[in-house]
Amino acid sequence: MTIHDRISRTALLLLLVVAGCSSPTQTRPSVTEADVQFPAAWRYDARTRPVSADSGMVVSTDSLASAAGVEILRAGGNAVEAAIATSFALAVVNPEAGNVGGGGFMVARLADGTEFALDYREQAPGGATSDMYVDEQGRVTDRGVEGHLASGVPGTVAGLEAAYLRYGELPWARLLEPAIRLARDGFHVAERHHNSIRDKRELLSKFPTSAGKFLPRGEPPPIGSSFKQPYLARTLQAIADGGAAAFYEGWIADSLAAEMRRGGGLINRRDLAAYEAVWREPVRAEYRGYEVVSMPPASSGGTTLTQILNIMEGFDLQTAGWHSAEAIHLAVEAMRRAYADRNYYLGDTDFVDVPLAMLTSESYADSLRRSIDRDRASVSEEFNRVSVESENTTHVSVVDVRGNAVAVTTTLNSGFGSGVVVRGAGFLLNNEMDDFTSLVGVPNLYGLVQGEANAIAPGKRMLSAMTPTIVINPQGRTELVTGTPGGATIITTVFQIVTNHIDFGLPVQTSVNAPRFHHQHLPDVIRFEKDGLPASVVAELRSLGHEVSERTGISGNVESIYIAPDGTMFGAADPRRYSKAIGY
Ligand code: DON
Repeated sequence: MTIHDRISRTALLLLLVVAGCSSPTQTRPSVTEADVQFPAAWRYDARTRPVSADSGMVVSTDSLASAAGVEILRAGGNAVEAAIATSFALAVVNPEAGNVGGGGFMVARLADGTEFALDYREQAPGGATSDMYVDEQGRVTDRGVEGHLASGVPGTVAGLEAAYLRYGELPWARLLEPAIRLARDGFHVAERHHNSIRDKRELLSKFPTSAGKFLPRGEPPPIGSSFKQPYLARTLQAIADGGAAAFYEGWIADSLAAEMRRGGGLINRRDLAAYEAVWREPVRAEYRGYEVVSMPPASSGGTTLTQILNIMEGFDLQTAGWHSAEAIHLAVEAMRRAYADRNYYLGDTDFVDVPLAMLTSESYADSLRRSIDRDRASVSEEFNRVSVESENTTHVSVVDVRGNAVAVTTTLNSGFGSGVVVRGAGFLLNNEMDDFTSLVGVPNLYGLVQGEANAIAPGKRMLSAMTPTIVINPQGRTELVTGTPGGATIITTVFQIVTNHIDFGLPVQTSVNAPRFHHQHLPDVIRFEKDGLPASVVAELRSLGHEVSERTGISGNVESIYIAPDGTMFGAADPRRYSKAIGY
């Protein structure tokens, strides 16, 4: 029996007892991993057990960083503080994505019910112009992707400090201790570190400071050697001693501005001094009685996730069956419509008017749902208002003993960001400017074809897809904390984690291990992970008129925590990369 049969059967049994199958508050089916089978050739196991714990759980994209978070929880720190410590540690042990030279988003639900969203996305420097990446022939250059001109003003240090000032209890410097130790004393280079540097050797060798740090004697540090980052340790120590002001106004700001002048970049002292993290109201979706709390602009994540969920709420997915052609077709049609809106309407709400209330309304979802033909694929061009993917973002999910839950996604954009390490300060700068629309109609690094709303302007934040998300059950209990890297696929991956949980009752690790599919309006194609869909389902989708393509590589790298009714925390790290769940 396949997973489809099994889950359909479970759902069917449930439907015999629960009336009103597609009512907004359906019962979450209870499926155990023993009930679940993935397609035969699929590389991950449905039966892998998550890590369980009673006192605290950290799941992040790196084991040493997860350990840093647990160290802080054990020292009496709360989930926000553990997320801060994990973020700083990621800047050391996961330097291709973890950062102090990038930006990110934090979504939290605290034990007292407080929910918040914190935006510390990079912003365009004051000297930026809308056509700064277009050459005289009207072509988009690679200056938005590589080198000094590709960087937005970093937001991470301001964001982490803002979270601390509101919710911190331990001394600030304590939160940086694990990161400083790892940078100063070094950590063992694993194959993954060696390989990720090797894969970006060409980029890193273009900039002497980056080559000096990552390619000693012209080669990536050997596997098993100790990788020490004394300049980064000094930077982190300065932040520990002087807070964000040390980064935005002190010698680190001088070093960053000097680096920019040397390489023809734009960020200056004024840009740095003006940077502020922004507290925002989270986006909340009601989905079958659950509340899904996520990130508003400058990320598109929460808005687009909400649109997909609102459309899907009108369909009876349990009867359709998990990963049936019908369920995938409906989800893809919802994704197509939501991404078309994303790419046209969304941008930094401090700069452009975004009709957020309309986009996330039930009535708008109803009209989009009515345009879906159950028997035929739509054509993306009909929704024209306007991906490839690297695996280079980090995510952290944390739950503490008090029931505080935090989700953080942060990035430099593509692997090793702009490739530029700041001389004397030892950290990489982002290449987030490529997330703006460089030229309307021209796809960015992730194949996203975006519009005017996301055009470059001084001080504006580039649109993101990062989707740190928390799911609250109908009884008001925090039940799932999740998020992932993955560029444009982040939103559809988080959607699948949410629907796997609510609609199909998949155990948390099974949900993370399950194969994924993706559609982003343009290009008009369903991409699914290798061996992730049975041939029969692919054939059915094609017969509905979809272009379906098996992608190379993997989709996302999820870090989820499920909190059971008795309070036990189950941490599920994604086997696709090097994520690690550690509880205690
Ligand atoms: O903010 C965004 O949407 C992108 N800069 C995220 C990049 C990313 O996830 C790359 N790694 N997989």
